[in-house]
Amino acid sequence: MNYDTIILGAGAAGMMCATHCGGRALVIDHAKAPGKKIRISGGGRCNFTNLHAGPGNFLSQNPHFSKSALARYTQWDFIDLVERHHIDWHEKTLGQLFCDGSSKQIIQMLLDEMARVGAELWVQTTFHSLRKTESGFSLEVEREGNRISLTCRNLVLATGGKSIPKMGATGLAYDIARQFGLKVTETRAALVPFTFSDGRFKDLSGVSLPVRLSNQRTSFDEALLFTHRGLSGPSVLQLSSYWREGEVIRVNLIPGLGLFELLRDQRQAGGRKALTTELARHLPSRLVDYLKHHFQMQGNLADQSDAALTDLVAALSDWHLTPAGTEGYRTAEVTLGGIDTQGLSSKTMEAREVPGLYVIGEAVDVTGWLGGYNFQWAWSSGHAAGSAI
Ligand code: FDA
Repeated sequence: MNYDTIILGAGAAGMMCATHCGGRALVIDHAKAPGKKIRISGGGRCNFTNLHAGPGNFLSQNPHFSKSALARYTQWDFIDLVERHHIDWHEKTLGQLFCDGSSKQIIQMLLDEMARVGAELWVQTTFHSLRKTESGFSLEVEREGNRISLTCRNLVLATGGKSIPKMGATGLAYDIARQFGLKVTETRAALVPFTFSDGRFKDLSGVSLPVRLSNQRTSFDEALLFTHRGLSGPSVLQLSSYWREGEVIRVNLIPGLGLFELLRDQRQAGGRKALTTELARHLPSRLVDYLKHHFQMQGNLADQSDAALTDLVAALSDWHLTPAGTEGYRTAEVTLGGIDTQGLSSKTMEAREVPGLYVIGEAVDVTGWLGGYNFQWAWSSGHAAGSAI
């Protein structure tokens, strides 16, 4: 069977590409249903883009690579598509856009768009082999127990990264890229919780608060969540993409609070209140209980000298922690790194040395922050390849 374009992977990027590539197009996936990650994303409501999406929200060995695709298919283009399909949406926080209803609406929208342009979809199809031919590519796949030979002029790799193997993530795009001489950068689990081997935060599990979390390279002002195994929450997931094993992370538990002045004023107003009681007005009380021992907080406010208050505020605003590791690909939202952008055209996503071979979405070494950025990259890169084909 011959197609103009075969797209491996019916995720966000693959389906978007199929709606734009024209000609006779086939999307292949080994999963039972398309868009599994879309379905579970954003707690079932899909954080489908971000109002502030721009190249600065992405990590890559080449920070300029994402510019062209993001500029030619923007968050506004995707919002327009969502509105044309009468999907209601809202901004939750920090420009993050979610469906009012269900993430299934986004999947259905992409399937409707594919049907509109006549793109075919084969799920539960196993990829076996691939080789280059004079006019394109030849593939062997298995579907419903039958071995099928396919040929195509254009082949699009859209099988994503390695995160959450249980959901069907494989390294297929990397393997095929290597087969054709493309380089793959180091890959790591990203947007992933930190673990601490000693279970030190077990008693704080479930406590959440706004923090500023930083390392030497960057910082994020978002919520932090203590878990049985370590730390999670948006600030932690964000920082994990910039973290390396063995590095210290710094937690400011009181960003923008002016705690020294607050404590000093309370001391002046009487001072018979216990220091920890006053602190529990500004921080979760379970956390204050934990920190009491850690930072040796004792006595009433009246017992605290200015110097002691200064030391306490300094400790609370710059708590140093060294995670043992991360939860890894088992729970990571994305894979950092991927197919090296050096071998790809930033305008079309086509491999420079292999005409007709395209790579899009998470498989590429472009990784977004938490907050709808990764889907925007899937839409933009899918559109870039689709329009070029
Ligand atoms: P994606 O992984 O979506 O699709 C790849 C497809 O290829 C899959 O359908 C898979 O079955 C198929 N495939 C893989 N190997 C194959 C093989 N060997 N043979 C055949 N098919 C194969 N992002 C965001 O912007 N907002 C959000 O709210 C969230 N939320 C979120 C929650 C969770 C739990 C996760 C794990 C991830 C997110 N993300 C997110 C990240 C986002 O889901 C991700 O970046 C995109 O889905 C990437 O789109 P792709 O199309 O590149 O890959």
